[in-house]
Amino acid sequence: MNILEIIAKKRDGMELSKDEIQYFIDEYIKDNVTDYQAAALLMAIYINGMNERETTDLTLAMAYSGDVLDLSSLGNVVDKHSTGGVGDKITLILMPIIASFGIPSAKMSGRGLGFTGGTIDKLESIPGYNTQIDVVSFIENVKNVGISIMGQTLNLAPADKKLYALRDTISCTESIHLIASSIMSKKIAAGANKIVLDVTCGSGAFMKNKQDAKKLADIMIKIGKLSGRTTVCVITDMNQPIGKSVGNTLEVIEAVDILRGKYMPKDVEHIITELGANMLVLAKKAVDIEDGKTKILENIRNGKAYEKLLQLVQNQGGDVSYIEDTDKFEKAKYIVEIKAKKSGVITSLDAYKVGTLSNYLGAGRMKKTDSINPRVGFVFEKKVGYAVSQDEVLGYIHADDEEKVNYVLKQELFEIK
Ligand code: URA
Repeated sequence: MNILEIIAKKRDGMELSKDEIQYFIDEYIKDNVTDYQAAALLMAIYINGMNERETTDLTLAMAYSGDVLDLSSLGNVVDKHSTGGVGDKITLILMPIIASFGIPSAKMSGRGLGFTGGTIDKLESIPGYNTQIDVVSFIENVKNVGISIMGQTLNLAPADKKLYALRDTISCTESIHLIASSIMSKKIAAGANKIVLDVTCGSGAFMKNKQDAKKLADIMIKIGKLSGRTTVCVITDMNQPIGKSVGNTLEVIEAVDILRGKYMPKDVEHIITELGANMLVLAKKAVDIEDGKTKILENIRNGKAYEKLLQLVQNQGGDVSYIEDTDKFEKAKYIVEIKAKKSGVITSLDAYKVGTLSNYLGAGRMKKTDSINPRVGFVFEKKVGYAVSQDEVLGYIHADDEEKVNYVLKQELFEIK
C-alpha cells in the first residue's frame, strides 16, 4: 500500500478500504505522509465524497489516533455538542440542567475559533474557574457533584486536529463528510456513548441551508450507528445570534440570568428544550420528548439547575460570588447604544456579521494563539420580527476601544423593512 495509490483511487472516484484509510491516518500522524499529499487526498474526498462506511472508518481512525477517554465508571453519560454558532451559551445552561436530573455531566469543551465562540473561553471569564484540570479530577468532580466542564487537555483525536488545520488552508472546511467525521471523532475520543448534536444552520453556521444541515445530521447519525454510539441530531437556526448576548462574560451573565429564571429568550427555550428533552429520553429520565421538555423547564423554575451551576463553578475553583451577583463582573469601558436607523420590522440580524464584529472587538480569535478580551461583545434588546421606531435602542456595543465602537456603529447589523 502506498499513499500515491490511495490518492489516485479517490481522485478517480473509487471507494477506499478500511485499511487504506487507517494507513493514511497512521502515516500522516507520523509525518510519513506529507501535508501536500494529505491536501491532495482531502481535496479528492471533498470533490468525490465518501460513502457511509468510508466516513465511519475515517472517523474511527481519527478518534483512536490519540487518547480515548474512558467514562464507563460514571455510568450513563450523555454528551451534547454544537456544530458551532454565535452567542451559543447553550452548554452553560443545558449541562447544569441535565446534571440536576442526576445524569452524569462530563463535558470536554473547546475554545472559539473564527466567528464561532467556545464554552471554555466563556467559563474562563469567571474569576478562578479552572478549565485545565486533569482527567482524574474531572471524573472525581462528576462523581462528587454530578458535573464538570473542562478544556481538551488530553491528546484527543490528534489526526483530526492536524487535518482540520490543513483543511482550513486549502478551502476544504465545508465538506459535509469531513465535518461529520471531524466532529464525531472528537465525540468518540471524549468517551461519549450517547450523543445529542445541535446541527446549526444559517449564516452563522458551517451549514448555510436546511438541506445541507439535514445531510450532515444524517451522516453523523449513521456514523453513530456504525460505531455503536446512539446519536440524535436536532437542526437549529443560526441566522441570528442565540439569545441576547454575544461575548464571553456577557454570555455567562445571560446564562446565569436564564438559570435564575429572570428571563427566557424564545430561541434559547427552543434549543434547550429540544436538545435537553432528547438527552433526558436517552438517559431514561423522560418517557418521551414532550415529557422531557416539561421537565427541562421545571428544573429551571425550581432552582435545581441554578444550584448545579453554582456547584460546578465552586468545585472548579471559580468565585461563586460572581454568579450570585453578576454585577461584579468587570464591564467594558464603553457601552454604546445601537439605534434603529428607520422605523419598520427587523428582518435580519446577521449572525455571521455579529460573530466577525464581536471578534473584531476582541471577544474571539482568528488564530489559536490570539488572546481574548472577556468583557467585550454585544447585547441585543431587539431581534428578528420586532417592530421598531426610528432611533429606538436595538442593543448595545460593549467595547474597550473607541475607534472600534465607531467602526461597528457604521456597520449595518440590522435589516429593517
Ligand atoms: N467542527 C468540527 O469540529 N469540525 C469541523 O470540521 C467543523 C466544525
